[in-house]
Amino acid sequence: QTLLAVFGGRSTEHEISCKSVVNIVRNIDTEKYDVLLAGITKEGEWLLADSLKSVEDGSWYDSKVHAILLPDGKLQSLLVTDEEGRMSFRKVDVIFPALHGKNGEDGTIQGLFELSRIPYVGCGVLASAVSMDKLYTKIIAEAPLRSIGVRQADYVSVIGKQLEDMADNVARVEAKFFYPVFIKPSNAGSSCGVTKAHNRQELIDGIQKAFTVDQKVLIEETIVGREVECAVFRDKDGNVKASGVGEILAAADFYDYDAKYNNPQSETDTNPEMDEKDRELIRKAAVAVFEAVDGYSLARVDFFLTKEGPVFNELNTLPGFTAISMYPMLWEAQGVSKKELIQALIDTAYT
Ligand code: DAL
Ligand code: MG
Repeated sequence: QTLLAVFGGRSTEHEISCKSVVNIVRNIDTEKYDVLLAGITKEGEWLLADSLKSVEDGSWYDSKVHAILLPDGKLQSLLVTDEEGRMSFRKVDVIFPALHGKNGEDGTIQGLFELSRIPYVGCGVLASAVSMDKLYTKIIAEAPLRSIGVRQADYVSVIGKQLEDMADNVARVEAKFFYPVFIKPSNAGSSCGVTKAHNRQELIDGIQKAFTVDQKVLIEETIVGREVECAVFRDKDGNVKASGVGEILAAADFYDYDAKYNNPQSETDTNPEMDEKDRELIRKAAVAVFEAVDGYSLARVDFFLTKEGPVFNELNTLPGFTAISMYPMLWEAQGVSKKELIQALIDTAYT
């Protein structure tokens, strides 16, 4: 069987994806699968990496071998063009997208996988698109969360042309919240474009910054609480399982991009102390949101744990698989090794 691992991508989380793919592919059973590594550059070019090492050291960017996944549902192949311009087809049996964020986790590439009729790991088009968009996640998650008594952060949205009327945006935010507030692009991951505003000027600057990432921006109330996360897995028979609840101990004011990936002081705990009632509610809410967005295969669901209970934050349909990532660690804490987890995820692809 040939497994195609796709990584990189035209996304602000390109670098994280390059780390995730290494951890994923290292745990794939190579007796069972021939692994092809297709890297997508930040410009959107598809290159075939010749080894995992070339992904680690970045030399895959110099690869002269192009590999495009064909939308042809009969060929189910990669079209490979070598250095001399010779073309060939490589049949692909299953795809593992190790992509995060825009163009990878948002349904766009899942649409290509659907057209190609090649089984793939992870959520489908709808769940991916909804989960990548913080505004739509909130809209879809509201009812199921309310029914089990879990809330989400209140927000004000600034969409498209509303950016031009900054006085109105400020007025709407200030009428609803006290500072500080969080400003987030609706479509982005790993906290890219997210800022915390302590006053009006920072709010204006933050909205403008978030608009460089997306045309839809959310301004959220500050939730004071612990950052906790739950891993969800759904097998192909529709059985959904939630892991335990892990905690992120961020080294920075909030778990921003830098604290996440560059600060060695940020720590994770896969079995933190907490009220059993809260733990169960978080696990229940994680499954409820996952099902509400039509989740499949996997997602990591993130919450804040406040004194009044858990507050839902977001859902990641292709969560990080870096060495410090919570999704694989939460399953390891349940006795599922990385190898078993990766194989279980691959098995979900064959619907
Ligand atoms: N978006 C990053 C990769 C995560 O959620 O782990
Ligand atoms: Mg994310």
